[in-house]
Amino acid sequence: MFDFRIDADDKPTMYRDLASALQGLVAGEPDAIANMANASALIYETLPDVNWVGFYRNVGGELVLGPFQGRPACIRMTFDQGVCGAAAKTQQVQRVEDVNAFPGHIACDSASASEIVVPLVRDGEVLGVLDIDSPKKARFTQEDEAGVVRLAEIMLSAM
Ligand code: SME
Repeated sequence: MFDFRIDADDKPTMYRDLASALQGLVAGEPDAIANMANASALIYETLPDVNWVGFYRNVGGELVLGPFQGRPACIRMTFDQGVCGAAAKTQQVQRVEDVNAFPGHIACDSASASEIVVPLVRDGEVLGVLDIDSPKKARFTQEDEAGVVRLAEIMLSAM
């Protein structure tokens, strides 16, 4: 059993603790699916005000649903579809304050109001994306972005 207690008051400390918990969780395990599954559970359990946390993997140039926590989600997206597609295509973090104002956003859960998607890029190649959704508008700040980018870096070493 893993019982991580992460209850820091400020975001940088919370993300630092979350990153070290994630590092411990994936250490020594080479299976990418297992690591993505545990990562999505840990992040979903730790971050307040999120309703979906998960991965899409680049399978033959298409984003295919991977391990996640939350409601059942859309299974496949091209690099031209959704916020995830934009992150994969541009290889840039997409931090969207209001998903309804993002052209082409794919609503898997109508409760989602904002999201952050971090591309997982190794040697110039997109392996997938880490997608986190919130029912609150503008849930993700610059501090969240820095924290989630760090989590994505850890995942890159675990897949
Ligand atoms: N938000 C995504 C679709 C996937 S779900 O939110 C899980 C998008 O538009 O990329």
